[in-house]
Amino acid sequence: MITNTQTGTALDEISDGIYRISTPVTSPPGGFSYNQYLIADRMPLLYHTGPRAMFRFVCKAIERVLPVEELRYLCFSHFESDECGSVNQFLERAPEAALLCGRIGAMLNADAWDRRPQPLEDGATVELGRHRLQWLDAPHLPHAWDCGHLFDASTQTLFCGDLFTQPGPGRPALTRADILESSESLRATMDYYAHGRRTRELLEKLSGTRPVTLACMHGSAWEGDGASLLKELGSLIAR
Ligand SMILES: [Fe+2]
Ligand SMILES: [Fe+2]
Repeated sequence: MITNTQTGTALDEISDGIYRISTPVTSPPGGFSYNQYLIADRMPLLYHTGPRAMFRFVCKAIERVLPVEELRYLCFSHFESDECGSVNQFLERAPEAALLCGRIGAMLNADAWDRRPQPLEDGATVELGRHRLQWLDAPHLPHAWDCGHLFDASTQTLFCGDLFTQPGPGRPALTRADILESSESLRATMDYYAHGRRTRELLEKLSGTRPVTLACMHGSAWEGDGASLLKELGSLIAR
């Protein structure tokens, strides 16, 4: 469902109670997309806020599902504008929302926002109601020391952030088609992966969650054998 005809922002339920909010942009050439994920539950959570300039569009999309004021958690993978650029605006609109991020992020960026972040240890769980989330530390995968990813055990959805980033406007919302080839072409040209020592080990850890949906931050979300796809990525990176 398009929620803003000017920006092309779209809202789609990709798994039970999990909504992908996606806005296409024209830069770089060929297009790109920024996704946020709303988990509608007793304690609603927004994973990634989008950059500041998208705050109004993201809010408008959220309002199709629930009032922004009802958000109880904001959470993000790592400290970059598209992941957490409008945290302060959301904190103002949602006074009861707690800000969650990994332990390293909370240590590095404790005073970056109007509310102090609550650090999540590796493996820590967050109960939303029907959804039970687990934080997985993933330093430098694909980039940033503070990087981590979220896994929802109830729907077997891995919110994999910048992993499997695909170029283009980001449609469809959910696909079973191959995303590895296009994301690998972007990795080859933009070189946005860190060259961390533990990359393969961390991909094995993510693979161990056996996700059936990969909620990518840029491009389509993907449905299929996520464990195999993560292993395949590991073998390509380690080559
Ligand atoms: Fe990033
Ligand atoms: Fe990103």
